[in-house]
Amino acid sequence: MNCALPYANGPLHLGHIAGAYLGADIFVRFQRMRGNEVLFVSGSDEHGTPITMRADRENTTPASIADRYYREHSETFRNLGIDFSIFSRTTTKVHAETVREIFLELMDGGLLTEKTMISPFCPGCNRFMPDRYITGTCPNCGFEEAKGDQCDECGKILDPQDLISPKCAVCGTVPEFRETKHMFLRLDLLQDGILKWLDTRTFWKQNVLTFTKNFVKGGLKERAITRDIEWGVPVPLEGYENKRIYVWFEALIGYISAAKIYSEKIGDPGYWKSFYMDPEVRNYYFIGKDNIPFHSIVWPGMIMGLKGINLPYEVVANEFLRFKGKQFSKSRGIGFTANEMLNLAGRDYLRYYLSSILPESSDADFSPEDMAEKVNSEYIDKYGNFIHRVTSFAFNNSLKLGKGELDGDDSMILEYAEKKFTQYSGRLERAEVKRALLEWLELVKESNVYFNSSKPWDLVKTDLNRCSSKLWVAYKLAQYMTVMVYPFTPDSAVKMLSRLGVSREVEKAGFDLLKNDEFTIPVEKPAKPFNKMEFEDVNPNPLDLRVAKIVEAKDHPNADALYVMKLSVGGEERQLVAGLKKHYSTEELMGRKIIIVANLKKAKLRGEVSEGMMLAADDGDSVKYLTVPDEIPEGSKVSIGDYGYNGTGQIELKTLQALGLKVKKVDGQFRASATLMDHNYFLNTGGKFVEVSGESRDGATIK
Ligand code: 2FM
Ligand code: ZN
Repeated sequence: MNCALPYANGPLHLGHIAGAYLGADIFVRFQRMRGNEVLFVSGSDEHGTPITMRADRENTTPASIADRYYREHSETFRNLGIDFSIFSRTTTKVHAETVREIFLELMDGGLLTEKTMISPFCPGCNRFMPDRYITGTCPNCGFEEAKGDQCDECGKILDPQDLISPKCAVCGTVPEFRETKHMFLRLDLLQDGILKWLDTRTFWKQNVLTFTKNFVKGGLKERAITRDIEWGVPVPLEGYENKRIYVWFEALIGYISAAKIYSEKIGDPGYWKSFYMDPEVRNYYFIGKDNIPFHSIVWPGMIMGLKGINLPYEVVANEFLRFKGKQFSKSRGIGFTANEMLNLAGRDYLRYYLSSILPESSDADFSPEDMAEKVNSEYIDKYGNFIHRVTSFAFNNSLKLGKGELDGDDSMILEYAEKKFTQYSGRLERAEVKRALLEWLELVKESNVYFNSSKPWDLVKTDLNRCSSKLWVAYKLAQYMTVMVYPFTPDSAVKMLSRLGVSREVEKAGFDLLKNDEFTIPVEKPAKPFNKMEFEDVNPNPLDLRVAKIVEAKDHPNADALYVMKLSVGGEERQLVAGLKKHYSTEELMGRKIIIVANLKKAKLRGEVSEGMMLAADDGDSVKYLTVPDEIPEGSKVSIGDYGYNGTGQIELKTLQALGLKVKKVDGQFRASATLMDHNYFLNTGGKFVEVSGESRDGATIK
């Protein structure tokens, strides 16, 4: 079982999780429950230009970026309960060795050739630029910020020459296209083999199969697998000392190197072979939609050139999860990261909701309100409540549970449960996670109907045996639901099972647990199993930031460094005290537009009231106030990213400080930024950024 190696260049957002990881984890847990042995690998994809670009931007090394996100991703997966056997990384020695071996084996097999190619060379930067460093308009969809290797909007794989009006992303210069030598993978030679093999993949999901076939129909070309870059796996060839292996070529090998490292860790170095080289074993790949051609064409092609490695059994990819109709994007501030949502919703509720909307056959939309609604009305009101009613009833009436004589209704509902389990298994076997959960939900609903119509509260007075036997059936149903929901919400399932007095461990017993007929009723009154999810519109922005105009500035009567200013804030007048005397004369301040925190607790500074605080950047040498272009009217509200302020009440200084307001230098501008829920956002109003009123420094603090 393989799950795409996420790029270590930014946080995982919910789009990633829904695209590949959650479905993979549920599938793996299901297979383990069936008694199958699974090796579940993934890792950080730590080379590649997105990481170099980020390092350049942040003035650090690619290795430190990769480190940061390797750690962050590992933690996110742990928090989500994505239970990899190993989450490795592509910067390990074992990986470099494995890549080297595979590279040489393909070369021996005549599947690699050297060719001269044309690459973008930036005269401004005086070096060959990675494809991704060239941006321009996508010839396919017209997106204006397409990258030279792929359009992130329509997904089309591109060459930098394809871009309309290309330019260097570092310095903006128009690139030249110059000759350079590289090694190429002969996908052209592999085309027939790939096509033949694809014809045997009739059972693949439609989205992957159609995409792949259309792709191959266009004809496969040789693809360059080395690059003129410094950050990557070395090329094992003379004359290639200054080049590195193309990240996609080596990342795909990351599955095998991760499996090797795991095998070494468990003291059985050949263990990986029993998965990747035994033709009886199915190798699944769960990936994001934009990774399809690499897994359904390039990777199988590479494998065809290797001795003894299994071809993928199936490549599973979901469509996109969107947030309010837009693609999740950290840089554009759309949607939530996985960590943010975990903090707000908790692991199992998030897993439940995502599973129930997984974009398996078409794009889906994530909404926090919808999540609360689904979790509350399905998971808690139907499932949790069933467990609660059944266990409470058994407790309140001190029932002895045992399989008695079953009447028609009892047999029918038990048969129904078995049927739902079979359908659920069929769905999951096909990796149809969302549909499997729907089968489960039907069972939950029918079980509630059964319990209501059984009226155990009447039977307890008239026919105790019948009552006990009905309760036993209800416990049995609760066990079905719980065991079946385990792959989706593992923590809660384990807890619920112990409420039913089932002592065996679900992970160990697997679906055999469904045969269990022994339950024990609670010894204490059962508490409600789940707390409802509350979800008001989440707005993490606590700052009421406004544009204000200084209408008067004068010396503070009792303090040397302070001014007392009168501000006009959209019709409202405020007094503010600020320590600006060292930095500005009163004339320099008069009439200026500034940014204030309007909801800071009122303070008295040496006897003068200050209603709010003015924001200024301090780079250690000088202090400069923040401002906005003159066309922005005073009184305007300033947002942090997309988050406007809609709160009430006053805040303390420490709330402001927690947001880590800082200057960020972008395109020569010094913009104000703040951190909300791990994201860094720019302060903006009326479509304009809040900027420092003069030179500052990247990273300067704002206070
Ligand atoms: O899209 C991505 O995040 C890629 N890093 C996926 C690589 S999958 C495989 F090649 F390892
Ligand atoms: Zn350049």
